[in-house]
Amino acid sequence: MTQSEARYFTILETLGDFHELIKTNVWVNNPYILGGGSNILFTKDYNGLIVVNKLSGKEIVYEDEKVTDVEVFSGESWSELVLWSVEKDYWGIENLALIPGTVGAAPVQNIGAYGVEAKDTIISVKVYDFKTNEIIILGNSDCNFGYRDSIFKQEPHRYFVISVTFRLSKIPRLNLEYGAIVNTLKEHGITDPSAKDMASVVTEIRQRKLPDVGEIGMAGSFFKNPVILEEHFQTIQQKYPDMPFYELENGQVKIPAGWIIETLGYKGIKEGNVGTYDKHALVLVNYGNATGEEVWDFAQKIIKEVKEQFDIIFEPEVIIL
Ligand code: EPU
Repeated sequence: MTQSEARYFTILETLGDFHELIKTNVWVNNPYILGGGSNILFTKDYNGLIVVNKLSGKEIVYEDEKVTDVEVFSGESWSELVLWSVEKDYWGIENLALIPGTVGAAPVQNIGAYGVEAKDTIISVKVYDFKTNEIIILGNSDCNFGYRDSIFKQEPHRYFVISVTFRLSKIPRLNLEYGAIVNTLKEHGITDPSAKDMASVVTEIRQRKLPDVGEIGMAGSFFKNPVILEEHFQTIQQKYPDMPFYELENGQVKIPAGWIIETLGYKGIKEGNVGTYDKHALVLVNYGNATGEEVWDFAQKIIKEVKEQFDIIFEPEVIIL
């Protein structure tokens, strides 16, 4: 795969490394802190400092008969955290199994899947605030969470996420909103699922639809599912009565971007070195030698066509640098 190069590069192993790093001369070079790098597209070389966050460790900071609060350092693997949690029979993040990336990225993107979002279990986020140069703790409501959105995206470069504290439940909190989960549980004859069963069913569903990280170049869902007004939705629905949709509380409607891309005939196509995944049109794929720029050009072609055909503006979910 064609790669982008960073002018400077370093790895953080400890919080001490971070405090050292921000005092150095290199730090002034437009630093960008990377988690797992699984949700990012470099369209060119990075003329600055890329920092890979490997801060690790976790600690139970509160526990009673109903809940466990665990503080997890931001460089820990998200999917390892889910495995740890379900192994202990804690509930809350099992539907987020197999999402690539780090714990630190979970609040930034407010990662979500199968009816659950990271914000549902996050109680606080410990950050370094570059505006005030101090470590502070942001409570859940301070994080301004939205659909794949948070204060960390709204105010980019202001905060470095040090750790995240999650409140996990010891009492089952089944989320069976998604038909695919219910059907897969049935297929396996599971009637009273444990947190571990839920995580393995989610893992199975994801593996059916999404490529493994590292198998091919991709960054998960490339676009956010667009949210449109009811009238706009009805106009589209007249033409496409079978279009899947989710009604939101505020009278708006969310349409699956993958369905739109498939409807435009883009599912599984390959144009030069880029294309869409054959099992899920929302996943843009680098077939081997594409530059980040080629992937972005292809994404823009889709954005343009969606605007023309559906009058919908697609927003990337992936961070473009
Ligand atoms: N669909 C198509 N064609 C496709 C793909 C999907 O018609 O090629 C239809 C499906 O049939 C279904 C609907 O679109 O009716 C939704 O598909 P799916 O359940 O796969 O979910 P999604 O809306 O495409 C979102 C998240 C995923 C998350 C799943 C499950 C976004 C942008 N993506 O995808 O998150 O895993 O729901 O909850 O919200 C990610 O953020 O990277 C990600 C993978």
